[in-house]
Amino acid sequence: MMELKIKPKSGLKGQIKVPGDKSISHRSVMIGSLARGKTRISGFLTGEDCLNTLRAFQQMGVEVENFGAEEIVIKGVGLEGLSEPESVLDLGNSGTAMRLLLGILAGQDFYSVLTGDESLNQRPMARVTDPLSEMGAKIWGRDNANLAPLTVIGQQLSSFSYNSPVASAQVKSCILLAGLYAQGVTRVIEPAQSRDHTERMLEYFGAEVEVDGLEVSVKAKPKLEGQEVVVPSDISSAAFFIVAALINSDSELVLSNVGLNPTRDGLLEILTKMEADYELLEQRLVNQEPIADLKVNSSPLKAVEIGGAVIPKLIDEIPILAVAATQAEGTTVIKDAEELRVKETDRISAMVKELRKLGVEIEEREDGMIIEGPQKIKGGAECRSYGDHRIAMSLAVAALIAEEEVVIKNCDCIKTSFPNFTDLLEQI
Ligand code: S3P
Repeated sequence: MMELKIKPKSGLKGQIKVPGDKSISHRSVMIGSLARGKTRISGFLTGEDCLNTLRAFQQMGVEVENFGAEEIVIKGVGLEGLSEPESVLDLGNSGTAMRLLLGILAGQDFYSVLTGDESLNQRPMARVTDPLSEMGAKIWGRDNANLAPLTVIGQQLSSFSYNSPVASAQVKSCILLAGLYAQGVTRVIEPAQSRDHTERMLEYFGAEVEVDGLEVSVKAKPKLEGQEVVVPSDISSAAFFIVAALINSDSELVLSNVGLNPTRDGLLEILTKMEADYELLEQRLVNQEPIADLKVNSSPLKAVEIGGAVIPKLIDEIPILAVAATQAEGTTVIKDAEELRVKETDRISAMVKELRKLGVEIEEREDGMIIEGPQKIKGGAECRSYGDHRIAMSLAVAALIAEEEVVIKNCDCIKTSFPNFTDLLEQI
């Protein structure tokens, strides 16, 4: 198992490009496969999570051509063109892959079985299998189809209007993708806005999608046509380097091509309130997604309260924001973030335990944490990642400002979303 040993380091400098957006990469393979004709994807994230999605579609008869590491072409088979996989679809660590695929598989005319790793097979799937069964899906699994492995016997689905109790793009996307196979219009109403890449991409490929505030609907049986997709750099991966530059003295980093979709930019909204010194350069639009280069300088930070509607817009950035909070003047309160407890690991408990090992005083709340700052990061400890990529990378950034070396065990998980994380860290 890979472990990271990180020595304190200030003066982080350079221009880097972090890998492609994970959410957009997954969706481009899925929607590209369901379209007719070729979809060329550049900037594709070759992290394990997206490779698992790619393999699943190959198992269902989709041909993929590789042109260098980050450029692939999907030969779409059309909405009705997938074929029955001859073996289990193993989605590894990826909740997005499993939940979105369930929506697609529910409406096929074949049998399929989905599984994942130890973490994924403990994560709640009833949030998608319950509404899918209301559409007529037949899905079996442990704990009343809440836990993978899951068996799906595809059915003709009926349209549905779903009031989701949770602001989750995975739930919304699963139902919208199932809606492609229903009859008429399928609608999802969310309690708060979650990331909208599925809506944007379905529309880009030719589906009829309507968005009205927190309500999104899609019309069944669209004619999807293959497209060119340029995947922007993932703001959730950029976040580790943004915070690293902010909390390290004498640092200046430029991150190019960062995706700034307004449903994903909660980190920047909060960093602005924290008085972080950053600039957006060359703002532009690439296949329906806004992007920019980001210039970040070391800066003193102010503590703020993080809660309410911004949470889904920065849900994956909360572990690294907790690290930023240790350096912010005042009391940082993170609340309304109970969803963190059902991510790749319980991210509230993991960050609280591991930051305490580094000498940080931090209070755990059911739905978040409270951190007084600024505090010293003592280091000299051995930390755990809990097999969660974002915990491993957040601790690595904390280690850069520690007083002594920090060891982080079990860091192979970083490959799920950010295969060249340590190379870029060394580069800056
Ligand atoms: C994702 C949605 C989020 C996020 C995950 C990726 C997506 O999960 O945490 O990393 O691509 O749809 P939820 O929608 O369940 O909050």
